[in-house]
Amino acid sequence: MNKYSVLTLFPDIVNQGLNYSIVGRAIKEGLIDLNLINIRDFAINDYGQVDDKLYGGGTGMLMMAEPILKAWLSIFKPDPEQYLAELPAELTLTEWQNNLQQVSEARTFFLSPKGQKFDQNLAAELAQEDHLVFLCGHYEGIDQRILDTLQVEELSLGDFVLTGGESAIVVMLDAITRLIPGVLPEAEAHQADSFAQGLLEEPQYTRPANWRGLEVPDILLSGHQAKIEKYRKSKSLLETFLKRSDLLENKKLSESEWLLLIDSLNNN
Ligand SMILES: C[S@@+](CC[C@H](N)C(=O)[O-])C[C@H]1O[C@@H](n2cnc3c(N)ncnc32)[C@H](O)[C@@H]1O
Repeated sequence: MNKYSVLTLFPDIVNQGLNYSIVGRAIKEGLIDLNLINIRDFAINDYGQVDDKLYGGGTGMLMMAEPILKAWLSIFKPDPEQYLAELPAELTLTEWQNNLQQVSEARTFFLSPKGQKFDQNLAAELAQEDHLVFLCGHYEGIDQRILDTLQVEELSLGDFVLTGGESAIVVMLDAITRLIPGVLPEAEAHQADSFAQGLLEEPQYTRPANWRGLEVPDILLSGHQAKIEKYRKSKSLLETFLKRSDLLENKKLSESEWLLLIDSLNNN
């Protein structure tokens, strides 16, 4: 089972965002374990404080290091306070890193606009991992010292700034989960999706064959599977060429694929 531990101030957003449709079923069937940790449970005082003003001035509030450290430890240790009590009160960054690496070597990702951009290849890579930890920032973000201590890998949804990492992790876990064997009803369904083979998916149609005068392409009704596959491939190549030609720079097309593409461009 793949386990995803999400550290957040707003677990309800993540829970509601993922507990429906295919991913919701994967959670219910135990194909993935979604472990939501509320950082506020580790607040520094009885008022539930988890953030404070920025040193050096600036607007907004920053999430503090201490509640995040304890929330992270709670994933792996039954009693984070006890674990910390057994460490010296002060450590160097390297000492912190070494100690926490011994607690767990699970990769910890920080959702951040500064991070590596998330894409289908990364989703496929992460779908292979047994346990991943995701840290969602909110407000102005997070004190850099805990990010350094946990040696986070930064992951971005794109070049824009969200209110919090919660919506980003919902999107990313959706993309990752559907690649886990057994999650999609048909084992290889995602192999035909856009990006899986470096191309966009071809246009698709369902009933009725004639919808208000608009016909489904004849070939798809022919029952001739080899011709249908060739047609689909040519339309997938065309779609990619017309909408995302940058993808073709990375994908080495074979001679027959180039001929198919040229043919569909001529018949477009
Ligand atoms: C308002 S943002 C903080 C942005 C930060 N002050 C900056 O300019 O880089 C609050 C949180 O939302 C999340 N976030 C914002 N944009 C994101 C993006 N493009 N991808 C992933 N997470 C994002 C991060 O966790 C971030 O800490």
